[in-house]
Parts: sequence; C-alpha cells; structure tokens
Amino acid sequence: METRFLLNGEPQVADTGATTTLLDWLREHQRLTGTKEGCNEGDCGACTVMVTDPDGTARALNACILFLPQLAGRAVRTIEGIAGPDGRLHPVQQAMIDHHGSQCGFCTPGFVVSMAVAHLTGRQDHDDQLAGNLCRCTGYAPIIRAAQAASTAPIPDWMRKDAETLRDPGFTFPEICSSGGLPPACPTTADDLADWYEANPDATLIAGATDVGLWVTKGLRDLAPVAFLNQCADLRGIVADDETIRIGAMTSIAELGAFMADRHPSFAELIRRYGSVQVRNAATIGGNIANGSPIGDSPPALIALGARLHLRKGAGRRVIALEDFFLDYGKQDRAPGEFVEAVSIPVQPDRLACYKLSKRFDQDISAVCGAFTITVTEGRVAAARIAFGGMAGVPKRAAHVEAALLGQPWEEATIREAQEAFAQDFTPLSDMRASAGYRLRATQGMLMRYFLETRGDAVDVLEVRA
Ligand SMILES: Cc1cc2nc3c(=O)[nH]c(=O)nc-3n(C[C@H](O)[C@H](O)[C@H](O)COP(=O)(O)OP(=O)(O)OC[C@H]3O[C@@H](n4cnc5c(N)ncnc54)[C@H](O)[C@@H]3O)c2cc1C
Ligand code: FES
Ligand code: FES
Repeated sequence: METRFLLNGEPQVADTGATTTLLDWLREHQRLTGTKEGCNEGDCGACTVMVTDPDGTARALNACILFLPQLAGRAVRTIEGIAGPDGRLHPVQQAMIDHHGSQCGFCTPGFVVSMAVAHLTGRQDHDDQLAGNLCRCTGYAPIIRAAQAASTAPIPDWMRKDAETLRDPGFTFPEICSSGGLPPACPTTADDLADWYEANPDATLIAGATDVGLWVTKGLRDLAPVAFLNQCADLRGIVADDETIRIGAMTSIAELGAFMADRHPSFAELIRRYGSVQVRNAATIGGNIANGSPIGDSPPALIALGARLHLRKGAGRRVIALEDFFLDYGKQDRAPGEFVEAVSIPVQPDRLACYKLSKRFDQDISAVCGAFTITVTEGRVAAARIAFGGMAGVPKRAAHVEAALLGQPWEEATIREAQEAFAQDFTPLSDMRASAGYRLRATQGMLMRYFLETRGDAVDVLEVRA
C-alpha cells in the first residue's frame, strides 16, 4: 500500500503494509532512530512526532500506534526535523540544555517534540501538554522550567513550513493513498465508506487507532482487510443549532474537549484526564463508543446528556438512545457492515457533573466514572439521568437511583435514601483497579458530592490539582 506525505519537509512515498506503524517505518526503513520506542502502546510519549493536517493544524501524536495510511496527505516532523535546516537549535532544545532537562536522554526526543508543538500552538499549560511524556530520571521540574523559559521565544520559520506547504494551492500529492487494486481502504466520504463496508462487513474500521494500534503492536494481529476513516471529512466536526449538537464520529477527543469547555465544562475537565494530549489528538468519539468498553470515559457523560447514536449501514440509517447501544460486555447493537456516523445531544442548560476515579490523576483508565444531570424544579427532582462506567460490563444508567430521586425534595435525606438504590443497579466486579465494595461506595459518594456541589459546598479539599 502506498501512502504519500511530507517527512521533515520532504515528500515521501511509503510502500508498506496497511498496518505498518510510523515508528517501525521511521526506525527500520528510514534509519531515523531519534524517535524512540518505549512502551509501544501509547503510554510513554518517547515516540512523539508532530503531525500537520492539510488545514495547517499541528498536533503531537504517538508514532507507535499510528499507521502509515493515517498520514496520507499530512506532514510529519520527527525529532530530526525540529532543529533548523542550518543546524540552529529550536528554542525548546536550547532551553532543555540551559535548564538541565535531560539525563539518560531516552525520553528527551519525545519531550522536545511535544514541547515544540506546544510552542508552535501557543500552549502554556505545560503540565497537561507534557502529561503523556514520561521521564524516569530527570524529574519534571527542570523540563517544565525549560518549557516555560522557551514559551516567549519567537516561533522558528521552519516550524511553520509544513502548514505553508500543505496550504499552498500549487502543492498537491498525485494520489495520497493507494491500495494497489485492493478494496478501497481509504474512503474519502461517509457514502464511500458505507458502500465499501456493506460489501466488506468483516473488515476492521480504523479511526484513531488508539485501541486498534495495540491489537497490532501488542496482540500481533493481522487485521486485513481494513478501512481507514481519517479521510472521511464529512464524518468529522461538530455542528450545533438551537436544539441539537451533532458530533461526527471522526471528531477527535481533543476537539470534543475544546468544544465542551463552554457548554459543559465538567465534560471538558473529564476529557483533560483522558489519556494524554497525544492520545486525545488521535482518539475519536466514534471509536470511544464503538469499542463498547465498559470503562470508556465519554459514554457515561454522553448518556447523562441524553445522547442519541446515529448508525449507518449502506444507504440505511437509524438513531437509537446511546445507552441502548451497549447490550452486554463485548456486545453492541451494531449489525455487520454498520458503522457509527455521529452522536448527538440536545442543547440544554449545563447541569452535568462528571467524576473520574482512577489510581493516577493523569493518563489513567477509570476505575469508576460517573456522570450526573439532575434537574430540580421548585425544590423537587424533576428529571435525573445518571450513568456510570466501570460498574458493569457496559456503560449503564443507574435506573433505580434515578427512580428513587424523581419527584423527591432535593435534600440530604433524599440523597441518603437514593444511595441505597445503587446496589440494585450495579453488581460491580473486583479487579486490579478497585474492589466491588469500593466501587459501590464511590458511586454513593459521587451522588452526595453532586448534591453538595449544587448547594455550593466545598467538596474538593482533598483533590490533588496540578
Ligand atoms: C495510552 C492510552 C490511554 C487511553 N486512555 C483512555 C482514557 O483515559 N479514557 C478512555 O475512555 N479511553 C482511553 N483509551 C482508549 C482509547 O483511546 C479510546 O477507546 C478511543 O476513543 C478509541 O478511539 P479510536 O478513534 O482510537 O478508535 P480505534 O482504535 O480506531 O477503534 C476502536 C474500535 O472502534 C471501531 N470503530 C472506530 N470508529 C468506528 C466507527 N465510526 N464506526 C464503527 N466502528 C468504529 C474500530 O473498528 C475498533 O473496533 C486510551 C488508549 C491509550 C492507548
Ligand atoms: S513508545 Fe511509548 S508512547 Fe509510543
Ligand atoms: S532523562 Fe532518562 S527517562 Fe528522561
């Protein structure tokens, strides 16, 4: 399969298997060994590269779970392309030297690329920007100091070059992705995808590859045939009118977080703790729903907001309540050849609160994730939507708790009574993340926390904030 893209400013044609990762290709075929392999599963950031989209948007991504065809028509800049063509250091490289930000140096290329992207995009929230880069020996203080010191330096000309090249109307790749006569693995519209997938219902769809990538790097699976969804522009983006917010399946988790910051800030805060910058830049909302994970972070929040799921098979479309999509562990209401086109939520006053409980604050999967939208009218509960991840084999509503709240006065006694109903809704498992008892107690605590927050009580005195 041939993929055309820019590598450190130069056009490239990569002729590889569909699921060859960028990291393997860089290190084994290009001998560009500055990009390191640490975990090979998206957790450490040693393999971070900068990827620029055709519209000029630059982002940090993990090369170890990025397949070559996902780069078609885009620009990649590795650590070898961060210094200027004349060898001048990028300001973040100089700052890492000045502030002693490197010891063994294994993590350093990944940090430098993440810092260079943050520098280019004007991000000052260095803790969040670097949460996906792990360092075992230097310690973070010198690295953060380096990022802060470099942040006021001008952006070097060469760092803008990829966006300029891709936006130049005179520059085009002849054919950005070609599968050599095999089924069209790179559809460019939802219609093309629908036709192809209906004819190839056993194929694997690849969206951001933050799950699928691990099936290859850790599971050593052969996924053929596959279809890459990243060129279906009509599956990407968020459209809002007065009544509905429609989120295309290929909208990244990072884009969703940015959108939610004004509408539902608690959702945006939840997303801030979803993986890392690199993972959020790659992962899509469609993938986070379609994978059916019981501990995916976005389904509980979306269910609490009354989300509807838009499914498509060929020319046929259907819309279901999101909670009805999750039938059982590993089983979703999705027919062969059917895919997620979008998820929509009604426009509503913001009453959403999301609570993610995990062993680490950053970059960790939830042990329990709860989302609450409760409407109180004239002192009584008029509506309640409460959903949890990590409490069953699927993301699930707390129907008995909702029923216990409905019509009742919004006061502590009601909350205490409703807390008992969690045991009717959930029989959680004990696993390495949490025991069943802890999980049940945590859900009860979250309901009380929601109540106290609506009363304006301080509840986060013990919360560790960056
Ligand atoms: C380091 C790391 C940290 C992570 N942290 C979190 C976290 O904090 N919270 C969390 O919830 N998840 C986390 N994840 C899991 C992962 O990021 C999410 O599940 C992600 O949303 C998957 O989306 P994707 O676009 O990458 O999907 P992919 O990996 O491309 O696909 C996932 C599955 O969905 C299917 N699929 C994708 N799109 C569609 C579609 N439109 N229609 C039908 N099927 C489709 C694929 O065929 C596949 O079965 C993490 C993953 C990694 C590697
Ligand atoms: S090697 Fe660890 S994130 Fe890629
Ligand atoms: S300097 Fe050794 S891991 Fe960071």
